[in-house]
Parts: sequence; C-alpha cells; structure tokens
Amino acid sequence: MVEAKIVELLLTAEIYNRFEELKEDDIPKEIRKIFYSRNGIQRPLVVKEDMVNEYLGSRDGVKNRVKNLPFIDFNEFNKQFKITSFDLSLKWFAKKGEDLIRRNPVLAYYFQNYDSLNVSYEEAKKNTKPVQSDKEWLKSIISELESNEETAQMLGLVRIYSPEDIRFDFDEVALTEEQIEEFTKIEVALEKRDYLRKIGVIEVGKLLFIGPPGTGKTTTAKALSKKLHLPLLEVKLSMITSQYLGETSKNIEKVFEIAKRVNPCLLFIDEFDYVAKTRTSDEHAAVKRAVNTLLKSIDEINLVEDGVILIAATNHPSLLDSAVWRRFDKIIEFPEPSELIRRRIFELSLSKIPGSFDLDELVKLTKGFTGAEIKLVIREAVLNSLLEGIEELTQEKLVNAIADVKRRLNLKSSY
Ligand SMILES: Nc1ncnc2c1ncn2[C@@H]1O[C@H](COP(=O)(O)OP(=O)(O)OP(=O)(O)O)[C@@H](O)[C@H]1O
Ligand SMILES: [Mg+2]
Repeated sequence: MVEAKIVELLLTAEIYNRFEELKEDDIPKEIRKIFYSRNGIQRPLVVKEDMVNEYLGSRDGVKNRVKNLPFIDFNEFNKQFKITSFDLSLKWFAKKGEDLIRRNPVLAYYFQNYDSLNVSYEEAKKNTKPVQSDKEWLKSIISELESNEETAQMLGLVRIYSPEDIRFDFDEVALTEEQIEEFTKIEVALEKRDYLRKIGVIEVGKLLFIGPPGTGKTTTAKALSKKLHLPLLEVKLSMITSQYLGETSKNIEKVFEIAKRVNPCLLFIDEFDYVAKTRTSDEHAAVKRAVNTLLKSIDEINLVEDGVILIAATNHPSLLDSAVWRRFDKIIEFPEPSELIRRRIFELSLSKIPGSFDLDELVKLTKGFTGAEIKLVIREAVLNSLLEGIEELTQEKLVNAIADVKRRLNLKSSY
C-alpha cells in the first residue's frame, strides 16, 4: 500500500530524529539509501518529494496520495513532507503498517512499547544489513577521502568494491568444512568486536590464503566481503612496488592507512610473496625496508580495534619470510581440489544449464584440475554447443571439453 510506505518513510525519519540512540544501521537499507548526502546520513532527516518518488519507484501522484491523511502536510515551496500530528500518525500506522514495522528497526524500537502491537526491535534488527554494505556509504567515504590531496593519492593504490558490486554469493564457492569453519569464526568475531576488545583478545582477523593458481583464493576473498557486508580493498603487491628508494614502503603504509580510514572493511593483499619474500643478503636495502614496513603494518592493524580484516594470498608460500608467516592467526590452504570439491564446483556451475550429466564421470576425468580449469571446461562446452545452435549441454560435450583442457595443460607443461 502506497500510503503506508509514505508514512513509513516519514515516521522512520521522525523517530530517528527523536532518538539519538538509534544508529544508521537501524534504518532499513532501502530507506537509508535515499537519505545519503555527501557527508553520509545526517540528523535531522527530512523527507522531500523526490526522495519519496525514489523510494516508491514512481514519479506521479505522491502528493495526492497523502491528501486524505490529516496528519501529513506537504509544503509546495520546499517540496517537503511533514508529520503534523505524531500521535495520529502512530495510531494510523499501528493499524496499517504492522508488517512494515516488523522489518524496520527504527519503527520497531518505538512500537515495541506501543499497546497491542507484537513487534520487537531485536527481531527487526535481524533482517537489516549494516550501513557499510551500502554502495552509497562507500561513495560518501571515498568522496571524503578524495577531497584531501594526501588521501586522494592513497586511493590510487587500491581497488575498492562495495559488497553490492560482487556478483556471486559465498554459497557459490566450493569450500571445505575447515575453510567454512574459519570464515564462520571471523564472522562471529566481527559481530562480537566489543566483547573481544573488553577481554583483551584483539589479535584476530588476519588470514593467509595459500595454494596454486586458480583454486579460488581471490574468489573466496570477494565472496567473504559480500557475506560479511564489508567493502573490499584489493591491492596487488606487484602494483605498488616501485623501483624508487623508499617508495614501496611508503605505499605499503598508505594501503594500511586507507583501510583504517574506510573501516570496517576487508583488506585483500594479493601476490603477497612479491614483497614478503625471504630476505637474502644480496638484496637491496630498500627491499628489506619494505618487508619491515609490511611486518610493522600487519602488527599495527587488527579487526577488533581497527575494524579491518586482513587477507593475504600467495601461490608461493615457501618464499615467505617466517617472520611474515608468524603474523597471521590462520593459514588457510587452497589445495588442488579434492573429488568432493570438484563435484561441488560442477554442481554449482551446471545448476543453471539445461541438460543431464553424470557427475561421477566428470569428477573422475578432472583429477588434478583446479576450480579455474573446471570453469574453463564448462565455458568451452557451452560455447561449442552454441556454435551448433544448441542452448543446452550434453555429457559428451563436457567430456570432450575436458580432453581439450587436458591437452592444453599438457602443452603448457611441455614447454
Ligand atoms: N572452490 C571454488 N569454487 C568455485 N569456483 C572456483 C573455485 N576455485 C576456483 N574457482 C573458479 O576459478 C576461477 C579462478 O579462481 P580465483 O581467481 O579465485 O583463483 P586464485 O586462487 O585467486 O588464483 P591465483 O592464485 O591465480 O590468483 C574463478 O572464476 C572461480 O570462480
Ligand atoms: Mg587470485
């Protein structure tokens, strides 16, 4: 009902303005989105005509819709809606908007003490996503960083993704039980930051992903950012390494600094071995300095105090300095996928493709394949079918594609 949604918007703004203890996270995501300004979400919230249109996804007649509601006023001059009687609007909404209240923590906060309504703030809270999952939240942080020359320059060192921009879900990555357990721990730690700070357990949230190319390290880091509703800052160490003396160290410091500014976030450092290699005696002093900076930066960041989860990834764990290795609370292996994982990747990848398949055979034939190679098999098979004008897949096409990819792998290893 359109009227109820308009009143929801107005009441949410009104109640949020009245109760300082309510936080941005309490406003439902769809409503939050329309209140973002350059400086984030600022009290007092005001509701304008274009905002209501945006929320309803329509352009016409919003003003007329509320004409019959005696407790709402529309000001033609500043295009602003206003509640003229809080009491009347509450009464009306308690009757018409109970479902909306259940999903809206700001409203539930107020209405849980309102007679005869069976709603709870805690329950409403369960369905809302934190503010840092909003694209708009990230945009306002970035634009603030851009407005300062020093931090603007830092932004150039990292790629920043909003969790909303990540297209695949955590469930679409085939992971082992152990891996999932570790990620669940991080999720819980993120929720219980205050408790961990209180009891002095702060060295959490630093993970090292190791494993051969194509085993899902990058994919998992991105999927985690989506699952945890955290923006992802991605940096490849090769890209911030400079031949100029001291520049690499400075860049490393800047990357960690930017993560602290964006917090909460997930900092993903790829190609980690690029700098953190074992220090050998013939290396340049600048390299040693870069490694030391990296060590110090890792020491000086943690989830509990800074709101930063650090994930580093490498294909060459043996190259890592043991001092670096020690600084991670968990090493997470991404080995060549087992039968179980290969089966899962096939299942997940084939789930939307019409056709019937013998997974046992596919799993057997792909021994030694990485996740990336299995994806390649499926892509090949799909394209080959399309070439014949067929929008489905057969077992035969997949088996042939496996043979193709195998040939390709052998070719590579013969050179
Ligand atoms: N366990 C997995 N589950 C689902 N997809 C996977 C898995 N492993 C790999 N893939 C797929 O393989 C491709 C490559 O994976 P990804 O880039 O994450 O590998 P990586 O371990 O980061 O490799 P590299 O070390 O080369 O950076 C992605 O398209 C991803 O979807
Ligand atoms: Mg990768």
